[in-house]
Amino acid sequence: MQVTLRIRRYNPETDSRPHDETYLVEAEPTDRVLDLLNVVKGYQDGTLAYRRSCGHGVCGSDAMRVNGVNRLACKVLVKELGDRITVEPLLGLKVIKDLIVDMGPFFEHYRAVMPYLVNDEPEPPRERLQTPEQRARFDDTTKCILCAACTTSCPSFWASGEYVGPAAIVQAHRFIFDSRDRAATERLDVLNARMGVWRCHDIFNCTSACPRDIQITKAIAEVKMAITTGKID
Ligand code: SF4
Ligand code: FES
Repeated sequence: MQVTLRIRRYNPETDSRPHDETYLVEAEPTDRVLDLLNVVKGYQDGTLAYRRSCGHGVCGSDAMRVNGVNRLACKVLVKELGDRITVEPLLGLKVIKDLIVDMGPFFEHYRAVMPYLVNDEPEPPRERLQTPEQRARFDDTTKCILCAACTTSCPSFWASGEYVGPAAIVQAHRFIFDSRDRAATERLDVLNARMGVWRCHDIFNCTSACPRDIQITKAIAEVKMAITTGKID
């Protein structure tokens, strides 16, 4: 089949503003949008810029807006979209070139929630044990690949890039509810600040956008509850 692929282009060295360019690409229905971008870059216009690495939904580097919805280009198939496909960069982050956005602010929010295990107690002889039930408590939020599809689909983040955003809250959740961790209070203080969890208004865009099917709005609600009750269980 022939696909009409419209791509939002922007070269800061030559363009005063972004514009769309259209490419005709021969494709199989089972091709992924990433395959189409690779055809354009390889055979039609080598100046096209986009991020990708694993090609299999693991690294999280190729999140972009596909037909108006945040997707991983390597996970969405042509047959799900039809023969007219529009590709744009993520919203809410500065465009560096074409489909590449500045992920700096996104990772600043990530670092703010201390996304690592904190425990200064003496090390046990072998390992810090936890029960299967304790491990299951935060299993869903361990699946995050930091693609930013959630944060950049959130109207609260579009309104203010200072909002910590759903991805950082997911990462905080993963450690707050880990029975081995001891820094929940510090993380909850960060998330109880003006640009923390209370900027979430349960819009659910993040949950719809997540390529890992993480129940993000539920995780955010659990963090809100922990702040309100002071209980982590
Ligand atoms: Fe991507 Fe989902 Fe992680 Fe958000 S929670 S960064 S959408 S994997
Ligand atoms: Fe790694 Fe798509 S290229 S997630």
